Amino acid sequence: MAKRLLLLMGALITCAVLGACAGQNSSCPEGGFNSISVKKYSNFTPGKLWLDNNGRHINAHGAGFLHDNGRYYMFGEHKLGGALGNKALVGVHCYSSDDLYNWKDEGIAFKMSRDPESKVIIGTVLERPKVLYNPKTKKYVMFFHLEFRQGPTKKSLNIDDIRKEKNDYSAANIGFAVADKITGPYKFVGSTRLHANKFPVNASESLKKLVAQNKNFDNISELGNSVKNGTVDDLFAKHFKIGQTCRDFTAFLDDDGKAYIISASEGNGTLYVSELNDDFLGFTGKYTRNLIGGFHEAPAIFKTKGKYYMFSSHCTGWNPNPGRVSVSDNIMGEWRELGNPCRGEGQVESSTYRAAKADTTFRSQSTYVIPVQGKADAFIYFGDRWHPYDAMDGRYIMLPVEWEGDMPVIRWRNSWNLSFFDSKK
Ligand code: GAL
Repeated sequence: MAKRLLLLMGALITCAVLGACAGQNSSCPEGGFNSISVKKYSNFTPGKLWLDNNGRHINAHGAGFLHDNGRYYMFGEHKLGGALGNKALVGVHCYSSDDLYNWKDEGIAFKMSRDPESKVIIGTVLERPKVLYNPKTKKYVMFFHLEFRQGPTKKSLNIDDIRKEKNDYSAANIGFAVADKITGPYKFVGSTRLHANKFPVNASESLKKLVAQNKNFDNISELGNSVKNGTVDDLFAKHFKIGQTCRDFTAFLDDDGKAYIISASEGNGTLYVSELNDDFLGFTGKYTRNLIGGFHEAPAIFKTKGKYYMFSSHCTGWNPNPGRVSVSDNIMGEWRELGNPCRGEGQVESSTYRAAKADTTFRSQSTYVIPVQGKADAFIYFGDRWHPYDAMDGRYIMLPVEWEGDMPVIRWRNSWNLSFFDSKK
């Protein structure tokens, strides 16, 4: 056993080192660097390497942000190099900042387990972590999309076994972890599908009837961006007893202290808004179905001027697609889709850059909207430019949210800083 663990640790260290080199080679086309000189940023440069206080590219993919005690915190998937890096081999990485440009490495806030019986054993898929502070329990609560390893080697800690396993997205759970300190360590509490045996508050009569019919739905299956042999209602009925799927999601704390999980559910076909209970470690049971059959992923929510806005994407896996933005007067809906928020030419092709146009959300997928502290109505769209074949080299796209009337829009900028928001007043 000890020998196997040592072998695994060795393999992980090799991966991390190889990955770091792959991502941070000075001949890298999207901006190399010298790891000895750590620069102090005063601008955002979307798509370029983004170095932390140690000179390493920030490793926090599918990130969530939290402002706490005067500092910003970023939590994201710690990825390794190569395609293997898309599996959770390390955990959730945390960084802190007082200006949003420069980030201090706060270490791994949530560590994957080496216990073969654990639901969060290394090599699972753990994505899009988000953290909220619960003032009632005085705990920090971390949420994540969790999938399980499947198949005969699912309990193995051997890196070659893990490498060979296909990433399986069928469990579609939301996971919960808690900590006393914002930087962790976060302790795994459990994971679940959503709302087994419960109808949403806005369930249609036809949906209730369909469930009551108790049909055999064996031939209905989800394909990630559609439903085979049926509709999202059929999928809802199929999963009614075992709970609905939950994949891409975000967590949102409203002004009144209530918190919500907004998730791509029903095979990514329908967005759920689910109210969290008092300790944020479970649900009250109150939830709504939204934009039914619209197939949205990557929800990222912000609230301004009494309305809720949501960036999201279509469902094309790691490949970017045209972004989407929706609005609602109430967090629980009814949500209305406004269209593609991307404007302008985008990132123009050059000798070092591939073009990144509005029809691919500037080659990104939304993950969060950061409210800028101390500035009225200042929000930053934050997205991932995934590099699935060298996962840790994924880049971050941060762009200021602008307005076209009541519609939030984003434009490509090679470089910008927070004074952008002052000039808009
Ligand atoms: C994306 C999703 C990512 C990840 C990926 C896997 O659509 O937003 O978080 O799940 O698919 O293909």
